[in-house]
Amino acid sequence: MARTKIAVLISGRGSNLQSLIDAAAEPDFPGEIALVISNRPKAGGLERASKAGISVEVVDHKSFETREDFEAAINHALKTAKVDFICLAGFMRVLTAGFASDWRGRLINIHPSLLPSFEGLHVHERMIQAGVKIAGCTVHFVSADVDSGPIIGQAAVPVLPGDNEEKLAARILEQEHKLYPACLRLLLENKARLLGANVIYDDTVVATGELINPPTN
Ligand code: GRF
Repeated sequence: MARTKIAVLISGRGSNLQSLIDAAAEPDFPGEIALVISNRPKAGGLERASKAGISVEVVDHKSFETREDFEAAINHALKTAKVDFICLAGFMRVLTAGFASDWRGRLINIHPSLLPSFEGLHVHERMIQAGVKIAGCTVHFVSADVDSGPIIGQAAVPVLPGDNEEKLAARILEQEHKLYPACLRLLLENKARLLGANVIYDDTVVATGELINPPTN
């Protein structure tokens, strides 16, 4: 069976990209990463992609006057590479409602909080300031509003006394690297899919094992 062609959009170091590259290297993974696009020419993730032999494109948002023009360039690269699924992984540009709707059901993101709590930026600092005791990460479909959209899976971690931003971010990131490939696999295998405003799952999906704190294989 042909493997789904995936593009990963990044802006930075690309540790989540790496977890997707590693997962896609498994022979039974139902997708292949065909393209990595960065809006920042110096994103560390570009090197990870090149090292894995994946095509890379830099689409620098600063070269475009409007968001629509920037997205048209992204769409052109996606079309050329025959991409049919997009993973945002630390992609720091807000996408337009038009882009989200064109890719509806085929565009997902990972966010380092248990959404709908703590959407937006500076999440780790804000969680520590708020004194929450449980933090985590969320993989969700992208909709017109930032960090919203139907939730696919989540992983929780404790916030411990003495945590600072770095310690908490590292604990969450460890879970991100398990959750993102697990959710992507479920979607590509059509065991999880978007239905209206919700995500529905096959009966075979083990909620505690795949959608909530997935184990490392
Ligand atoms: C991750 O924490 C992700 O959840 C957020 O941005 C960060 C990207 O990190 N959206 P990396 O570039 O994948 O290492």
